[in-house]
Amino acid sequence: MAKPKSFTCAECGAAHSKWSGRCDACGAWNSIVEEVPATAGPPSKSLGARGGRAIALMDLATEETPPPRCLSRMDELDRVLGGGLVPGSAILVGGDPGIGKSTLLLQAAARFAGAGLETVYVSGEEASAQVRMRAQRLGLGEAPVKLAAETNLRDILTTLEAERPGLVIIDSIQTMWSDMVDSAPGSVSQVRAAAHELTSFAKRRGVSVILVGHVTKEGQIAGPRVVEHMVDTVLYFEGERGHQFRILRAVKNRFGPADEIGVFEMTGRGLAEVANPSALFMGARGQPAPGSVVFAGIEGTRPVLVELQALVAPSPHSQPRRTVVGWDGGRLAMILAVLEARCAIPFAGLDVYLNVAGGLKIGEPAADLAVAAALLSAREDAALPADTVVFGEISLSGALRPAPQTENRLKEASKLGFTSAIAPPGGKNTEISGLRLVSATDLTGFVGDIFGAG
Ligand code: TYD
Ligand code: MG
Repeated sequence: MAKPKSFTCAECGAAHSKWSGRCDACGAWNSIVEEVPATAGPPSKSLGARGGRAIALMDLATEETPPPRCLSRMDELDRVLGGGLVPGSAILVGGDPGIGKSTLLLQAAARFAGAGLETVYVSGEEASAQVRMRAQRLGLGEAPVKLAAETNLRDILTTLEAERPGLVIIDSIQTMWSDMVDSAPGSVSQVRAAAHELTSFAKRRGVSVILVGHVTKEGQIAGPRVVEHMVDTVLYFEGERGHQFRILRAVKNRFGPADEIGVFEMTGRGLAEVANPSALFMGARGQPAPGSVVFAGIEGTRPVLVELQALVAPSPHSQPRRTVVGWDGGRLAMILAVLEARCAIPFAGLDVYLNVAGGLKIGEPAADLAVAAALLSAREDAALPADTVVFGEISLSGALRPAPQTENRLKEASKLGFTSAIAPPGGKNTEISGLRLVSATDLTGFVGDIFGAG
């Protein structure tokens, strides 16, 4: 008897009853692939009360001391993990091909192994000799990491059952191949099966597993969005090509805060930690330039100062350009609309470019006021006073809302030599010695104060 066919979108994992050229769920083209059911176990007759095994229920209030975390002593990594590696946790590290995932994880493997955690690095993409050469280039040739170049999941699991290491790194999940599933490696069902086997191994044996996953251009982990739900922690390794900075960002973490970032710099000898990212994202600041504004932001638990750059120029097109790098395009449109509606400052007929320096991506609404300041400064061709940071959220009415952690932002600004800050009033302990806080309550007032217009 022919097996019933099922189809799955390789981008979003949505199930379809028949093949079509475009996925209805996510809109991706040519992403629907035929899937063979993972296991054709005996059909369960009834899911009623009969036949199951009684499971032991536990009190929520049981005392369970958290196991000690293992520190890699790579501070940027430990912080993103929520304070070190939790034994038995499953972690997915996603990122574009070539962004530096293998380099990062080989360095992490060496650190964990050096800290006494038995570490196995399984490469499905490179031969052992290649990995060894990379390790030598990184100056880690002598690290006590166990290495395998293998893609057969059954062999890998058998080996791990025997070895029982403390940490396994699988580079990458897309290359793993399980003989229980007869579809090609990299397909959704293979990736799902491999991730399932590896995460349940992690839970069963208390072994931490780090899975590497390649990401599509849209920023989704190719195929296995499902993997994101199976693991405890999802980290993205991101950065702009051509920039030497790389950011490891926690987007989900059952063992720590999400949105935490770790900052690294690419060097000829691998990734170097950047302990003070503010200095890096601000670049070399000389004379104040029109369109350039320093935003005092918060990334995870850490304040980070970032330079925002705007350029506003008459547009030769009937439809002016709006180009954003490192920020949300929809949010830019909103701020332009508020400036026009509430402050009568039109941007029609003008091309607008906005760039976050250093390749950082900002998601905070608190950047609104800094963006507005950069846009106005570029439009008026008037530089903001030097040594000033700006932050605050803009509402559609043109009112300004205080940003969370005002105190931390101000402290960081003061630490880096800034002498004034423009922000909505709010928060405690905003008196920082050496820093003048200029309160702004609505956008019109802000525009009038800073640019003498409005
Ligand atoms: P790689 O770690 O292989 O990326 P991924 O596993 O995400 O595909 O890195 C890509 C290339 O960049 C590789 O040739 C090594 C180089 N590289 C450096 O030279 N220095 C660095 O600090 C990093 C991260 C990468
Ligand atoms: Mg790689």
